[in-house]
Amino acid sequence: MSDRRRKIDLGSSDGNGNSKRNKQDVNPWTGAPYSQRYYNILEKRIKLPVYQFKDELIAKVLENQSIVVEGETGSGKTTQIPQFLLEAGLATQGETCVACTQPRRVAATSIAQRVADEMDVQLGSEVGYTIRFEDVSDPHTTVLKFLTDGMLLREAMHDPLLMRYSAIVLDECHERTLATDVIMGLLMEILPKRKKGSEHGELKVVVMSATLDAEKFQEYFHNAPLLKVPGRTFPVEIFYTAKPERNYVEAAVRTTLHIHQCEAPGDILVFLTGEQEIEQACEELREKSRSMDAELVVYPLYSSLSPEQQRKIFSEAPGPRTPGGPPGRKVVVSTNIAETSLTIDGIVYVVDPGFSKQKVYNPRIRVESLLVSPISRASAKQRSGRAGRTRPGKCFRLYTEKSFHDDLQETTYPEILRSKMSNVVLTLKKLGIDDLVHFDFLDPPAPETLMRALELLNYLGALDDEGEMTELGYQMSELPLDPQLAKLILVSPDYGCSSEIVSIVASLSVPQIFLRPRESAKQADEAKAQFTHHESDHLTLLRAYNEYAMIPDKERKQWCWDNFISERSMISSVNVRNQLLGIMKRLDIQVVSSDIKGDGSFSSVDIRKALTAGMFMQVAYRQRSGEYLTVKDNQHVYIHPSSVVNNRPEWVLFEEFALTTKNYIRTVTVTNVDWLVELAPHYFDLENFPKCEAKGELEKAYGRIAQSRSRR
Ligand code: CDP
Ligand code: MG
Repeated sequence: MSDRRRKIDLGSSDGNGNSKRNKQDVNPWTGAPYSQRYYNILEKRIKLPVYQFKDELIAKVLENQSIVVEGETGSGKTTQIPQFLLEAGLATQGETCVACTQPRRVAATSIAQRVADEMDVQLGSEVGYTIRFEDVSDPHTTVLKFLTDGMLLREAMHDPLLMRYSAIVLDECHERTLATDVIMGLLMEILPKRKKGSEHGELKVVVMSATLDAEKFQEYFHNAPLLKVPGRTFPVEIFYTAKPERNYVEAAVRTTLHIHQCEAPGDILVFLTGEQEIEQACEELREKSRSMDAELVVYPLYSSLSPEQQRKIFSEAPGPRTPGGPPGRKVVVSTNIAETSLTIDGIVYVVDPGFSKQKVYNPRIRVESLLVSPISRASAKQRSGRAGRTRPGKCFRLYTEKSFHDDLQETTYPEILRSKMSNVVLTLKKLGIDDLVHFDFLDPPAPETLMRALELLNYLGALDDEGEMTELGYQMSELPLDPQLAKLILVSPDYGCSSEIVSIVASLSVPQIFLRPRESAKQADEAKAQFTHHESDHLTLLRAYNEYAMIPDKERKQWCWDNFISERSMISSVNVRNQLLGIMKRLDIQVVSSDIKGDGSFSSVDIRKALTAGMFMQVAYRQRSGEYLTVKDNQHVYIHPSSVVNNRPEWVLFEEFALTTKNYIRTVTVTNVDWLVELAPHYFDLENFPKCEAKGELEKAYGRIAQSRSRR
């Protein structure tokens, strides 16, 4: 080990949670004395269940290359264990650091902030985070980095042995996200090359999971030892509804208000599935609790909230409205984030409607979508457990007991079994892993899913007919985007509009730009109408982006407000665009604009052609009956009512296929058959085309091309 390695000692626990230390302690990372806040947090830290196991954990980690840690949610795994690894001397400033992966961006950013506070350092310096399009870390100073599992996978593309890291903590493994599963598979290849004493230095792995599947992980990591952290939880009384609820959002609001009126003090956690639902429920809760005796403060929690808003969930519940009156209460209305990733102290009541948004993939029709689906029994148990963290609690399940036993699955399927794999396959190919069939997945994906991914990458030109990565494929893998969007960027200079395309892609990579609050839907629609380009939602986004970009900085906030545009999304899209431009520069991809006059105008035809060249696999054709069918897969679809394209054109391309009550296509652009056969003849080859009305149109288009050629 180098001399630069810093010795740090947080004091060792004596087993009763009391630590030997004195107030003159100096922070080994900054050289400054610890602040008062440090000691205040430390008092809480040493009471966490994992703290008792610090010495045992360090000993186990030093002895073994991999270990598995299983511990109840809230026991302190995520915030403490990475710090224990630092204490074990596993990081060397400027050389190697400890990584901790998180399936969710919100968890990565918020936990990094928390741990920076706990270590009394600046976020971005010793402790940092990396999520897609946002890197708050410093290679010279960062010793502990929280990052999404997807980002670690991207880093592996440039650092195949993960040499930057001396230890990797894989957190939330029980969630079995696609990226975590793939990283585990990669580690199977990396770990033998980075054993103790090997030329590359040892890589340690800590696999962390909330009580599920520990044995499966142990076995997979070649009989890694297990450290079990017993939770300290209180009994939770479970209530079910007598009859199924028709509208779970409405039922959740009703139940929450009932708890607020009738139950003893204690905060409430409500699980809903997404931003819209959550905002709606929050609004209703605020509205309906206004006249009640005790105050109810309502906080939403979902991934697209700003960090400041996210931090609010940790604030204290309000006191009584009037002296001597009943104390107030806090309610957090959250997506799955609060199920295991984030622990909010003080929760005594949980309201669980039994749903979450889950990925589903149908390889036959090549559609991946987020669908509101029933949760598993394991999830339901995790959710109810959130009520018993500080004292006995209650969980209100908004479904029947029979339904819990008969309808819910035991556990959630790993994501790898319900995702499209095109992105992962491209990454693995880049990593030189050619034999995907024999790659050591914890649960291998369906062969059909792999076939579909290979086929898509072949159509996009990322893989050749032998399955070898092409030059285009290399470039695509460098862009942190879905393969189709990456391809779109790469072809866009050919159509003279890469500047516009990168704005569109940036706008598609951030949360909703056009806001439409329920109470002012009409004004919002009118505001959007100013940007509407009737042939395309993509071009509508571009218009909004261009206008925003031309407005002086200090007027932007007001402009966004006046136009029902999300300022935060706009700021992110500018940032994302700059990052994409940086990568394009590195890849030597030209940035050209169809805006010849420089006044924000653009060529609709060129941009729509470029979109067609990238998105040709997502096209629908209007039948004589008036219905749209997706081309090749023949699925009935409807243009989403939020689309600006409302004159029912014959051919449209789409960004997203959303499976809800109806099959909707969203973010739509008008295209035409001549472009399709001109730009993607390998995909629209008539020999392998299913019989359908679209085929007839394609045949005619090929005929037209042949004729014009023979005339020339
Ligand atoms: O990972 P695990 O679920 O085992 O626990 P954790 O996330 O490390 O949380 C340990 C404690 O830190 C909990 O009591 C959290 O409430 C607290 N915490 C906090 O107060 N503020 C944060 N931003 C994150 C965690
Ligand atoms: Mg955790």
